[in-house]
Amino acid sequence: MILHLPAQKIPIQEIPIDKKVKLFIKREDLIHPEISGNKYWKLFFNINTYLAGNPEKPYIITFGGAFSNHIAAVSAVGNLAGISTLGMIRGEELKGKWRENPTLVFARRNGMNLQFVNREEYRHKEKLTEFLQSEFPDALIVPEGGTNKEAVEGIKMMLNDETKDFDYLCTAVGTGGTISGISEFCEENQKVIGFKAVMDNSLEETINKLTSKRNFSLIDSSFGGYGKIKDENIRFINDFKMNYGIPLEPIYTGKMMQKVFGMIEEGYFPENSKVLCFHTGGLQGIEGANLLLEKQNRNLII
Ligand SMILES: Cc1ncc(COP(=O)(O)O)c(C=O)c1O
Repeated sequence: MILHLPAQKIPIQEIPIDKKVKLFIKREDLIHPEISGNKYWKLFFNINTYLAGNPEKPYIITFGGAFSNHIAAVSAVGNLAGISTLGMIRGEELKGKWRENPTLVFARRNGMNLQFVNREEYRHKEKLTEFLQSEFPDALIVPEGGTNKEAVEGIKMMLNDETKDFDYLCTAVGTGGTISGISEFCEENQKVIGFKAVMDNSLEETINKLTSKRNFSLIDSSFGGYGKIKDENIRFINDFKMNYGIPLEPIYTGKMMQKVFGMIEEGYFPENSKVLCFHTGGLQGIEGANLLLEKQNRNLII
């Protein structure tokens, strides 16, 4: 097995906020230095089951954007397992410029081949997937963000006896796999809140296909759109790191925690509620974000 169960429990840390609500964060980001957070669990069954089948020519193909945490994670798995990987990257314009992008440089260093796909073609990924599967019948094709039924099963591993103790379970949402797994496998009395990093109205439908549970709600947490980083987001992430010693990244976890803090302030959570946020990793994205911020002469994420 390439992806193992962790030898030690993933820590749950209290964020001391001095409010009538108790706030905690589960540090899934610590699970692996290169395959961090929800990526580890979304890939867990996808990869282990594929490799257990002893494919003749193992090959892992997946999809993602230029700064994708999922692309970084799959390339790291390929490197660890000694398997060839192919990343279908959104945006033909990146072809001559990938060396300027730390995520893509990391993927290349891990031996991942990169194929740049124009945005229109990328939108029709199902067609591309069909084509790739016929070209490479032995390959494992993992969808964008790693989200599929196997990923949902893997997310179950983020829940344990300790997480049963919380009234609210919070996670950032991109492609919907993580929240689907949390909703599917949490306790009956727990409420799940998904903080949407992307303004995508079809997300609820996607999640409803991945889980039969209707115990979740979705809150827009995109702060103006996917990947947009406002000065208030940077300030929040930097203050959070200074106050609590925990790093957050600007696309998913930073925006989620900022929103949660706002909701606590507004009295969203009833008194004495215990709120657990999942730190879903993705810290590799900070370097790329800082390069963009630097070009705009803006403050950097520390
Ligand atoms: C750091 C981080 N958090 C949260 C998410 C959202 O997960 P999902 O795509 O399963 O909704 C992602 C995307 O995979 C991510 O990279």
